Amino acid sequence: MPSPTQTAAWQALKEERRAWNTLHLRELFAKDKKRFERFSLQLDDLLLDYSKNLIRPQTLKLLLKLAQETGVETLRDAMFSGEPINLTEGRAVLHTALRNRSERPVMVDGQDVMPEVREVLARMRAFADKVRTGKWKGYSGKPISDVVNIGIGGSDLGPAMACLALKPYGGNIRAHFVSNVDPSHLVDTLEDLDPASTLFIVASKTFTTQETLLNAQAARAWFLDSAKDEKAVAKHFVAVSTHSEAVKAFGIDPANMFGLWDWVGGRYSLWSAIGLPIALYVGMDEFEELLAGAYDMDEHFRTAPLAENMPVLMALLGLWYNNFWDAQSYAVLPYEQRLSRFPAYLQQLDMESSGKGVMRDGKPVKVSSGPALFGEPGTNGQHAFYQLIHQGTKLIPCDFLAAVESHNDVNNQHAVLLSNFLAQSEALMRGKTAAEVETELAASGMGRKEIKALLPHKVFPGNRPTNTLLYRKLTSRTLGRLIALYEHKVFVQGALWNVNSYDQWGVELGKQLARAILPELAGGKPGKHDASTLALIARLRAGEEA
Ligand code: F6P
Repeated sequence: MPSPTQTAAWQALKEERRAWNTLHLRELFAKDKKRFERFSLQLDDLLLDYSKNLIRPQTLKLLLKLAQETGVETLRDAMFSGEPINLTEGRAVLHTALRNRSERPVMVDGQDVMPEVREVLARMRAFADKVRTGKWKGYSGKPISDVVNIGIGGSDLGPAMACLALKPYGGNIRAHFVSNVDPSHLVDTLEDLDPASTLFIVASKTFTTQETLLNAQAARAWFLDSAKDEKAVAKHFVAVSTHSEAVKAFGIDPANMFGLWDWVGGRYSLWSAIGLPIALYVGMDEFEELLAGAYDMDEHFRTAPLAENMPVLMALLGLWYNNFWDAQSYAVLPYEQRLSRFPAYLQQLDMESSGKGVMRDGKPVKVSSGPALFGEPGTNGQHAFYQLIHQGTKLIPCDFLAAVESHNDVNNQHAVLLSNFLAQSEALMRGKTAAEVETELAASGMGRKEIKALLPHKVFPGNRPTNTLLYRKLTSRTLGRLIALYEHKVFVQGALWNVNSYDQWGVELGKQLARAILPELAGGKPGKHDASTLALIARLRAGEEA
């Protein structure tokens, strides 16, 4: 696969970018009454309106040409067919198999993985049903009331985000998530829990992750403090991992372990048994709805032509700003409080996947790769960082997400939420001209001198790009579609930049150094460090305030 810069489309896009120096979306909307129809796409109840982007028909044509020239479709087909596209780890990338709702086999090394996938799903169902109906009893005979998932990164963010999003479907089990090695996270979570009715899920693909193992040990000690019987552990601790030996060594009966496979990346694993907390919280039928939603998006991504393919279009638009408009960041703004952890989830998905400095062949990427992603639910974000998006000097493309229908309409507040949702993308697109500001200020009775001083502060440049994703209601199926949409978007961008989206070597160095520093904090001989690190270690050893 070539570097994208070697394609004819890339060179033509540079020209296209120059043309945009004199274009404004406000005028393009005024000129083209069909702009919304031209630049929007519907997949069942999910609408992507991408008309408020800095594109015209020829821009899109060139972006689609880039997708063709960089071989996006070939890599997509290789992923779905189980080829080891995760080159640096020699692995297939098959989270799509986990939600394959068809009878199609999915082959890895000549073997269909679907029977194993279905078997784990069946075990999850049996277990979730038992716990949710109270048939699974704790050591004292009490049913389970609280589930605590102990995991981090992909073994935490997806299930935590989904449980929050799917609260309306939650049953009688409360779900908690402990990820941070900061002991306060575990302590605060356990504070109000009863060990006799608490179930721990130790979730770690590798079962080597320091934070998870330490928290799991501490949770076990907390539990045994009350249960006083090692045999009780089996009723209160289950594991999700690829490593049955490590699970056993930790003291969890492998009969209480749910497996996954090395072809499931951590940040793509919520569809596997890593999703067990979701299944326990909302029930297996809803969990399967989540899988079905992702499958809808997989089928769309796999079969729709590039020009009508949501993940492809979103990826191309992202690349357009990242590489031709020098956008360094990207905001995801759900107008849905229950999606408040969605941006955090996407941070790992996007930044761990696209935060790469070399291409698939190991040569440096010559262009800017993945942006920094951030976001908060609207309307909260409006009162915090939107100022910069509207009037700052940086271009920050945004995705706005909202449901037509709320699960709770109280006091007409959903309509207020939606009016804000619409107003923001309109304001970002239109802006406010100097003439408009002047008219407004004059009408308020302000004098000429004052107007002159205030005017530049009140002008909005507009022409700031946004996507709008509108769905009927935040159901399990919708959430599945949304997550898979962003997964595939990230995939396409990896193909465009020619980076491997499925490794994460960048997290290793810090882990290595932390291992070396830990004994030094406890009084061991200081290692070779820079002066700053040495001084900080000395401060901490002395117990002084930093
Ligand atoms: O450190 C990063 C990472 O490897 C993530 O990619 C992963 O999701 C997380 O750690 C947790 O890993 P595990 O599930 O193996 O504990």
